[in-house]
Amino acid sequence: MVEDLGYDAVDINLGCPAKKVVKCGGSGLLRDLPLLERIFRAVRTAVKIPLTIKLRAGWDEKSIVAVDVAKMAESLGVEAVAVHPRTRVQGYSGAADWSIIAAVKQAVKIPVIGNGDINRPEDAERMFRETGCDAVMIGRAAATNPWIFRQMQEFAETGRYAIPTEGDRFRLLIDYYGQICAANLPDGVGKMKQFACWFTHSVGNGSELRRIVHTARTPGEILSSVERFFEGRAAALAGPSPVGAGRSEDPGHGPSQHLGYEATLGT
Ligand SMILES: Cc1cc2nc3c(=O)[nH]c(=O)nc-3n(C[C@H](O)[C@H](O)[C@H](O)COP(=O)(O)O)c2cc1C
Repeated sequence: MVEDLGYDAVDINLGCPAKKVVKCGGSGLLRDLPLLERIFRAVRTAVKIPLTIKLRAGWDEKSIVAVDVAKMAESLGVEAVAVHPRTRVQGYSGAADWSIIAAVKQAVKIPVIGNGDINRPEDAERMFRETGCDAVMIGRAAATNPWIFRQMQEFAETGRYAIPTEGDRFRLLIDYYGQICAANLPDGVGKMKQFACWFTHSVGNGSELRRIVHTARTPGEILSSVERFFEGRAAALAGPSPVGAGRSEDPGHGPSQHLGYEATLGT
């Protein structure tokens, strides 16, 4: 069915830790490898498009199964594996154990995508180096610092990267909120609040901005209160830098030509 709808690939997600999901799927399946084997076989037989999986390390620290699952998946025709090396019990806390990514990479020939705790381009570079993975996957940093993808490319090419200014952050926030308002989504306010929570930590007085967003009741109210918040900070918007373009300066870090390796994103 998925294939008939024109999708390019099927990914079986063995990573989701949500309570309602693990009862019948997500990382809950890491507790039942025979069932997982049947699922891999059935899906592989059903689709010709690429089949990939994303898994966690295991259910808990006493049952780390990532290598076993990756090997089984490879033997049944799965074409790539993404590894988020936290257990389900860990959720999103604690450190991701990158040695598990390295172990999976050693164990299979299919491409291995490493995931977990990549907050800055330097982290991605270190993950490649330490694990030998073929690609990296960005998680929470995509929401706190959506510039990370361009920064990684810039870092790979030049060894340095630009930090978004407060103005860049404001424009991105307003642009996103504008799109939510225009789309008239039923859960627009919820989406705006969620994004504000992730995205405003590097903004000066971000806690006040989050408070403003959380007390507003409609998307329009949120949009205008965010605009008002930034009006008082107009000085930070001076300069020609459009959203995400060009090398910018971060008032908290000094001139961009000195940023390079010591740049921090505060995520
Ligand atoms: C709010 C939220 C939603 C997520 N949704 C998904 C999802 O739909 N599918 C998925 O494979 N992973 C999902 N993840 C997990 C991330 O992709 C990633 O594996 C995890 O956050 C670890 O990477 P990080 O340490 O870089 O954040 C989600 C994570 C968060 C925080």
